[in-house]
Amino acid sequence: MKKIIIGNWKLNLDHLQGIQLLQKINYSLPKDVEENIDIVLAPSHTSLRSLQTVISTDKLKIKLSSQDVSMYKEGAYTGEVSSTQLEKLDISYSIIGHSERRTLLNENDEIINQKLKRLLEQRITPIFCFGEPIENRENNTYLEFIQEQLNEGLKGIRKDNMNEIIFAYEPIWAIGTGQVATIENIIEVLDFTKNLISSKSFYNQEKSRFIYGGSVSPDNSEEILNLNIVDGALVGGASLDSDKFVKIVNSIKL
Ligand code: 13P
Repeated sequence: MKKIIIGNWKLNLDHLQGIQLLQKINYSLPKDVEENIDIVLAPSHTSLRSLQTVISTDKLKIKLSSQDVSMYKEGAYTGEVSSTQLEKLDISYSIIGHSERRTLLNENDEIINQKLKRLLEQRITPIFCFGEPIENRENNTYLEFIQEQLNEGLKGIRKDNMNEIIFAYEPIWAIGTGQVATIENIIEVLDFTKNLISSKSFYNQEKSRFIYGGSVSPDNSEEILNLNIVDGALVGGASLDSDKFVKIVNSIKL
């Protein structure tokens, strides 16, 4: 399975700073990286067009993701960006269901389910985020919590479409805290998720990807990314520093 490293820049960098970081990262990546690892960056919507132009003009080995997509196809929805608009820009991936949007912007499973459908219609790979808050970890109900998020978020998704989705386990307590999940935590939840997804789909082990996010850094990436069950990482803070991001990529043993 080809691993994937996704840099989620969140609400940081304008498009000029984004181009600079993109070029720095590209320059430092191993020459044949795209043969072995998918590298994806998720800048703000306002940077997608300029970064895409640089990538296609200079034939860079990096793909782009949006950080979100509208649940609507088109119409009177001020401020929204549609999956069709992203597809026209040749955007390959989109994050949906990030916990920051779930908690700060009140996105629920139903909204995320609609977003997932819009992306699949446009053949944009969804990066479907899920993960429990600290309370559910502490009172030992995290697997039930995750099961509910996956069951609701995946409602009505065709079995053959399930393999197109990248499942990103991001426990909320590990995001931006420096408190990375333990190897046991990661294995347990990804294993649980894989079993749940395989019961819902025509499961294709060669295609389906299950990744981890939450305080991934060069200090812990080698241990996490070389686990068989981990197909990649969703990196926040460390993706804004080209040295750290490339170190994370290079920690994958090929
Ligand atoms: P950090 O790597 O900063 O913890 O963020 C993780 C994240 O939210 C990626 O989507």
